[in-house]
Amino acid sequence: MQGVSVNPLSIEKGVNLRTLNAFGLPAQAATLVRIDSEATLRRVVDHPELGRAPKFVLGGGSNVVFTRDPQAVVLKVEVMGRRLVEERPDAWLVELGAGENWHDTVAWTLAQGWPGLENLALIPGTAGAAPVQNIGAYGVELRERFESLDLVDLVTGRTVTLGLDACHFGYRDSVFKQALAGKSVITRVRFRLPKPWRPVLGYLELERKMQETGIGEPDAQTVFDWVCAIRRAKLPDPAVIGNVGSFFKNPVVTAEQCRDIIGRDPEIVHYPLPDGTVKLAAGWLIDACGWKGKSIGRAGVYEKQALVLVNRGGASGAEVVTLARAIQESVYGRFGIRLEPEPVVV
Ligand code: EPU
Repeated sequence: MQGVSVNPLSIEKGVNLRTLNAFGLPAQAATLVRIDSEATLRRVVDHPELGRAPKFVLGGGSNVVFTRDPQAVVLKVEVMGRRLVEERPDAWLVELGAGENWHDTVAWTLAQGWPGLENLALIPGTAGAAPVQNIGAYGVELRERFESLDLVDLVTGRTVTLGLDACHFGYRDSVFKQALAGKSVITRVRFRLPKPWRPVLGYLELERKMQETGIGEPDAQTVFDWVCAIRRAKLPDPAVIGNVGSFFKNPVVTAEQCRDIIGRDPEIVHYPLPDGTVKLAAGWLIDACGWKGKSIGRAGVYEKQALVLVNRGGASGAEVVTLARAIQESVYGRFGIRLEPEPVVV
């Protein structure tokens, strides 16, 4: 078409991924394409070679363990933008580009006077990765604030909007980890931040903050500050110590299994769920097996929270996986419970 100039796709070869993954693991992308818009993605889909090649979607790299160089074409999602779509009588509707940093976005919404995401402060990663995991912390899960998202289908190149039901959100789970894994790229996410705002304070550590400070009715900024303080006290900053947050999901067992374990280990930390099953604290199980502070090679178990594996400097993905397997074996040996990793292992 005359008058329309299209920049060539920027296709990078041999890209070092060490600084692009929160664990700081060594890996190299044979081919990497930075995705700044839906249009760029469509051009990847239409590209004679890239179109057919397998793809690996990389956001902030905070949920991936590289044990080898990815063979797939790495799509580094860098779609930016934050805007208020609409103010409704009962909510603010906010849209974020998938490449926006999650924590900065949470801080930005609060600064605009739109509370609701404060319990999810300091979670590493990008806005586009947040729905994949259905991120959650301190009594709030992403799905409770979610409105819709746009994705680009990697076969057709078409942009599709999905609402809450289509995302099949579960505990650290969604359709993007299941049926849609590897098939699409999330480009924009919209949140519904409800009015009037009420703090979510049920979590034990937030209750402790209320007692310590004597603040019974904190505003959203105060909850944000508390969550940041709680996380900083026991979770390592990936910019300083490589890690991807919780390495394992908290396992869910039947009430009977839980009774059986309590019989042997009365101390076990457990949370009954509404459906009669019981969630166990994986960190407690790992801690009880004596792993806190231990290492295998240069991969270790964080001293202040046994659910977090860390790179003690120069670790390989293989060392992380060896450590993870050893932990899984000892937890299985002692409790008969199989721990499931949270991050994607490449
Ligand atoms: N515990 C121990 N030893 C440990 C670690 C934990 O005994 O080494 C006990 C704690 O004392 C506590 C219980 O286990 O009684 C649970 O620990 P914590 O409150 O730290 O929460 P968690 O279950 O380990 C989950 C999420 C975190 C989220 C926090 C707060 C998962 C897998 N992890 O951790 O999410 O921030 O709750 O809501 O659901 C993440 O997913 O990356 C993440 C950090």
